[in-house]
Amino acid sequence: MSPDTHTVGVSVARVDAAEKTRGAELYIADMIFPRMLHAVVVRSPHPHARIVSIDVHAARAMPGVVAVLTARDVPGENCIPVVLRDQPLLADGVVRYVGEPVALVAAETYAQARTAAAAVQVVYEELPPLLDVLEARAHPSIRIYGEDNVFSHLWLHHGAAEKAFAACDVVVENTYHTPMQEHAYLETQGMIAVPEPGNTMHVYGSMQCPFYVREGVATVLGLPLARVQVTHTTTGGAFGGKEDFPSLPAGYVALLAYHTRRPVKLIYTRDEDIAVSSKRHAAVIYARHGATKDGVLRAVEMTYTINGGAYATLSPVVLFRGVVHAVGPYRCDDVSVHGYAVATHTVPAGAFRGFGSPQVIFAAERQMDALAHALTMDPAELREKNLLRQGDATVTRQRLPHSVGAHATLTAARDASGWKDKHNNSTWQHPAPAPDGTRYVRGIGLSTIYYGVGLGAGGEHMARTGAHMSIAHDGSVDFAVGTTEIGQGMKTVLTQIAATTLGVDVSRFTLLPSDTTRVPDSGPTVASRATTMSGRAVEIVATTLKERMCAAAAEKWSCDPATITLKNEMVWRDGVQTEMSYHDLIALCATQRVSLTATGWHHPPHLSFDWSCCCGDAYAVYAFATNIAEVAVDCDTGEVTVLRITAAHDVGKAVNPRLVQGQIEGGTVQGIGYALYEDVVTQNGVIQNPHFSTYIIPTAADIPEITSLIIEEPYPDGPYGAKGFGEQPLMGVAPAIANAVAHATGKNFTALPLTPERVWNAMNTE
Ligand code: MOS
Repeated sequence: MSPDTHTVGVSVARVDAAEKTRGAELYIADMIFPRMLHAVVVRSPHPHARIVSIDVHAARAMPGVVAVLTARDVPGENCIPVVLRDQPLLADGVVRYVGEPVALVAAETYAQARTAAAAVQVVYEELPPLLDVLEARAHPSIRIYGEDNVFSHLWLHHGAAEKAFAACDVVVENTYHTPMQEHAYLETQGMIAVPEPGNTMHVYGSMQCPFYVREGVATVLGLPLARVQVTHTTTGGAFGGKEDFPSLPAGYVALLAYHTRRPVKLIYTRDEDIAVSSKRHAAVIYARHGATKDGVLRAVEMTYTINGGAYATLSPVVLFRGVVHAVGPYRCDDVSVHGYAVATHTVPAGAFRGFGSPQVIFAAERQMDALAHALTMDPAELREKNLLRQGDATVTRQRLPHSVGAHATLTAARDASGWKDKHNNSTWQHPAPAPDGTRYVRGIGLSTIYYGVGLGAGGEHMARTGAHMSIAHDGSVDFAVGTTEIGQGMKTVLTQIAATTLGVDVSRFTLLPSDTTRVPDSGPTVASRATTMSGRAVEIVATTLKERMCAAAAEKWSCDPATITLKNEMVWRDGVQTEMSYHDLIALCATQRVSLTATGWHHPPHLSFDWSCCCGDAYAVYAFATNIAEVAVDCDTGEVTVLRITAAHDVGKAVNPRLVQGQIEGGTVQGIGYALYEDVVTQNGVIQNPHFSTYIIPTAADIPEITSLIIEEPYPDGPYGAKGFGEQPLMGVAPAIANAVAHATGKNFTALPLTPERVWNAMNTE
């Protein structure tokens, strides 16, 4: 059988599929260390209170208890650094959200730790909480952050929006509300810290960003970064929920391990996880859009307010992404978008697939439909008139020189869904009864979106990646990167890129677990950046090794190294296959004492961005998508059933088309949850539905027919033309569904989720 080398663009099987399906993979909850203790966190029951006293004596005296710690036991800085340095590891003097950690318990067994945690006596003096985001922004006296409870304010503006509105033929204005969303990853948060000789701390756990965790643990313990080792363990889903948050559980176990000199394990229960882990930011979006009668978008004015919760975490960067994506993938010359990330006494919000953009895209895409309605124009046609084309400038005035697949996605989705007939056909339109005379009305809706790939101007200092690769004398290859496999398929995609570049069979490669001691700081696994960034680093290191090996052959044959290449595990000279195999070449390199270990390093080009107007190059490249939703609405109950989603995504290059399809399907289902079901219900800051029985996510029964269409507009700076797209499958789904429900019912919808109550009420109000 000929070797499987050139596999970019081929749907090879996931390299981790067999172990995962057999149950052979070890997750953090499966791992056990000798003398390991179990941790439980004591948490605040109040959204805002002063801590009067903490009495740990009774808890410390309980059976099996080895340590009970509070803020005063932190040897370094009591701080988990993210963007700002406002969040303590353990509350000191005041608590700012329900579930904020106050004390830590470590005991011989989990049950003992749990009993002791309940025996920690904390006396609180309750204070009035700020729970509403608009109230918090304007509150005259209660201060959570700074002078005005605003973590961050951004203002994107150019042109003269007011003047432009005056020249518009139609203007539509709405205020939108979107809820918090829970990540609902299958594996809850979990960490183990193991103290090691030489005053070092080794942390293992479920996470996206080992380098963030290292920073957090080093800060809390007062250790140099080089004395903290973080090893990524198999992670059962993350979706942004394991971006910044794992530094907290890592800090708890590290602190307990530091004091007890024993390994300490902490695994969150599901209700604890939902109650205290970060959420997608709830948002309020005011939007005013104006167009001329020929359907040209002329002016946009928006105010985007996100509820950041008690601590800033990633809110300033989430806000940046939201503001940049607020208007969508359209040309518009006169724009003013204000963004505010506001502190409240609720659980801190953080990263979640889309990172501040799904909220504002919901508003923007409802606005585009509102404009189309006001102009009696087909919403697809309106978008077609305004969508970005190659050479156009985005709303931040960034010229797009290449890889603009916006129109291609719109055309593909429109054709595949039968948009024109369904949108215009009277049986699809309100108030026509459904064709079969039942109580259902049907509708079709669409959204067009774009998504800046990578960290962008908001995180440029972290935009680099490393890769390590080593070829053993038997021809097997181990390699490592600093980004992580979190279920998205990174291991497989990087293996394909490595195999294709080196010219060696995919089965020879082993991607080692991500570990802070193995590769240089490669930034976080977020922002749909792993394929492009680590992919490039892998391509670079594999090229380095291949060139070294080819040079060895060239030396033997006294010829130009440029004439030699390695392909299908054979050495080729001047385009002709020679007798020399991959194994022969490795042996030759050994004789010539050529090192077959190398490091690759990649950083994207500098982005020039003016923060005073939020103008310039926000991201190196953009991915594009069109989603079309077909729905049936039950007129008696208001229940929405999604019949079909057509999703066209411009991904640059699908390194593994089946994995791309998997991302589209998974993201679509998560988007359906955001559109129809998911709502974190709180009462006085207490989450009322921290269980999968009450926090409703889609099940297999709710999944419609999903038609995924892959568009490839290559990105010259990406590996084999790929640009990331892991997040965007979720982002355009909710507005497409909302637009379809509006099409079916003839009503305006401005809030998510579209629960039966909300839809029924709209249908039964004038
Ligand atoms: Mo992601 S939401 O950029 O972790």
